[in-house]
Amino acid sequence: MNREPDRLSMDAEEFRRLAHTVVDWIADYRRDVADRPVCSTSAPGDVLAQLPPSPPRAPEGFPAVLADLDRILMPAVSHWQHPRFFGYFPSNGDLAAVLGDFLSTGLGVLGLAWQSAPALTELEERVVDWLRQMSGLGAAWQGVIQDTASTSTLVALACARERASGHAAATTGMQHAGPPLLVYTSREAHSSVAKAALLVGFGREHVRSIATDAERALDPRALARQLAADRATGARPCAIVATTGTTATTAMDPIDACAGLAREHRAWLHVDAAMAGSAAILPECRHLWHGIEAADSVVTNPHKWLGASFDCSVLFVRDEQHLVRVMSTNPSYLRTAMDDRVKNYRDWGIALGRRFRALKLWSLIRTHGTDRLQARLRRDLANARWLADRVRDTPPWRVLAPVPLQTVCIRHEPPGLTEAELDRHTLAWVERLHRTGAAWLTPAQLDGRWMVRVSIGALATERRHVDDLWQAMQRAVR
Ligand SMILES: Cc1ncc(COP(=O)(O)O)c(C=O)c1O
Repeated sequence: MNREPDRLSMDAEEFRRLAHTVVDWIADYRRDVADRPVCSTSAPGDVLAQLPPSPPRAPEGFPAVLADLDRILMPAVSHWQHPRFFGYFPSNGDLAAVLGDFLSTGLGVLGLAWQSAPALTELEERVVDWLRQMSGLGAAWQGVIQDTASTSTLVALACARERASGHAAATTGMQHAGPPLLVYTSREAHSSVAKAALLVGFGREHVRSIATDAERALDPRALARQLAADRATGARPCAIVATTGTTATTAMDPIDACAGLAREHRAWLHVDAAMAGSAAILPECRHLWHGIEAADSVVTNPHKWLGASFDCSVLFVRDEQHLVRVMSTNPSYLRTAMDDRVKNYRDWGIALGRRFRALKLWSLIRTHGTDRLQARLRRDLANARWLADRVRDTPPWRVLAPVPLQTVCIRHEPPGLTEAELDRHTLAWVERLHRTGAAWLTPAQLDGRWMVRVSIGALATERRHVDDLWQAMQRAVR
């Protein structure tokens, strides 16, 4: 005889009790994270080997989950919120944002239409407009929260394609017989740009990789030459994607010059400011995207440096109606009597269902105010300049690229090494440093040679942690 389980889901009282344990767990983790080695030394398959291949039939209860988190998973976690995390880019989950996210998950509401969760839509509308103002963008920009910059760029390129093709998606799609549509971006652009172009259907051979200048920013003369050459063959420039803060070196493409060329060739200008867009909350940094008002779309990720905990990417567009026309499908079961008076964010992106992501951005901005957010970013900029100065003053260490923001690209170059030996030396000292657990850095290639990016800006990173890193780097090369 089948026995009915006593309870079919967790009730609120059990949740209350367990959630306190989880909150204590997170608070302890964040308080003590500096005592852990930054980088996990887990080997491939270590975690998998400890996880049962089949799900449990009988209830195991939540304490078992927490126990296995400690026992199995934590040894295989590298710590992005660690004060000596200098890898990739800061992906800050400020605890104020964590609380907002917690509330969002607890509410468990979905924004399919304005009516399905009016507060979700209207808070998002308000908070992305706060971000617009904080970033010094004009009133014409309208924003929407996407999951990642990859998605935001994909949506922007779909908009570009539809503008250039006269909304071909509504008829023949990319099968129309017109001239090929081309996308232009610098050779330093993030891989998500090429990926978006491929997914939107441009085809790899229609993505132009434009040369960069000595500072690794897109060279507008090379762009102009390529545009003219393509036009001469009858091809149609469709979109230019400029980057404010490239992934490798935070190089700044000249937005103004790109905008002039976009206007001349009637191409869409999308600006990828995924990482560096946060810096726009500092008036002294806004010159870095001078000309932005002439762009058609821009993406910035508050889930990176700003602290809005992954995932929270904001896409701003100037022509909201065009975006909605491209992304809207409008099936009958989602229509409501309110539709002409409200925003339906399902028509602003790919997914239908929308999390209440605005809660974490709202919580972050209200808890800290713009003053405190600005102060933290300024601290990080000063720390990056401090490290760059130490490195420059200590040959054979070298700073390899300008430091407009918080990323310092460095190499230790002992005399007499061949290029191949230097590459091996670079990767070896980073590996040694990682094994000590003292810090986490990301090696990357610059002009085909290995170098090391030091990306400063974790929430907890103070000057003393950057100093610790500098000492550890010097020990690692000895
Ligand atoms: C310049 C730039 N663009 C795009 C991305 C991709 O961001 P996401 O993970 O949000 O798609 C990154 C991430 O490193 C980036 O640095």
